[in-house]
Amino acid sequence: MIKKAVIPAAGLGTRFLPATKAQPKEMLPIIDTPTIQYVVQEAIDSGIDDILIISGKGKRTIEDHFDRNFQLETQLKNKADHDLYNEIRRISDMANIHFVRQKELNGLGDAIRYARLHTGDDPFAVLLGDTIIDSVIPVTQQLVDIYNQYKQSIIACEMVPEDKVSCYGIVGGDKISDKIWNVTDLVEKPEVGKSPSNLAIAGRYILTPEIYKMLEQTSFGKGNEIQLTDALRLLLRKERILSYTIEGKRYDIGNKLDYLKTIVDFALKRKGFAEPFREFLQEKLK
Ligand code: UTP
Repeated sequence: MIKKAVIPAAGLGTRFLPATKAQPKEMLPIIDTPTIQYVVQEAIDSGIDDILIISGKGKRTIEDHFDRNFQLETQLKNKADHDLYNEIRRISDMANIHFVRQKELNGLGDAIRYARLHTGDDPFAVLLGDTIIDSVIPVTQQLVDIYNQYKQSIIACEMVPEDKVSCYGIVGGDKISDKIWNVTDLVEKPEVGKSPSNLAIAGRYILTPEIYKMLEQTSFGKGNEIQLTDALRLLLRKERILSYTIEGKRYDIGNKLDYLKTIVDFALKRKGFAEPFREFLQEKLK
């Protein structure tokens, strides 16, 4: 059973400056909902309501977002705006959300180390706080289903074009089925032409607690950061790791172009927006 989720959200978000100079990129809104709320919702929709957010300097608004705001609640109540009131209350009651601060920003692998006390000896899900995956079945649920079958660490992946491999962690492996591979190799941002495959790590994982020992042994890698991919490569020597090609569309909010695409895609699906927004786009593109 996967009962806990870890959401790393401490990064600086340098690709999204200057917007992220004084606000977390995980709070960038998709229309009216912060990115990290979609991520938390995915965990909940996957049956996980014990969530640890890896926070850090300048990330207080994430904590505030999932906390009660009595002044706002009173005002909405007085205005009899029941829908908004209920939504604001729902956000603060969504899940059992805990926070821990990453003291030095030493990369995703380092961020995961801060979850050790919280997850203990249990396997856990990891959902990157700046990545939304739009899917019919929540992607974390898809991973949990595979975990329940194989009881091994699982890396969510998606196929990317050859010229994009150098933007991602890439896995190589042997096919078990169309979607599931037995991972044999992991490379962080390989050069084009030197990649073991086009299967890119997609921001969701199920990890066994053994990963913490591997993180202790992982030295600074690409970008002078402790890379989770490097720790997973060490884990490969001890345990089998599976990759799973997700059913869903991934949006990396930390990338400006992806952010714009997310807003357009979500607006085109949003009740009340879809029609006028489509007309606006059609008019613009004429
Ligand atoms: P990224 O590598 O995309 O985040 O990490 P970043 O370092 O903030 O991005 P840029 O390159 O400077 O724009 C993916 C997720 O891991 C978290 C980030 O907050 C993001 O949600 N992260 C990253 C941490 O929690 N700690 C870190 O040290 C690095």
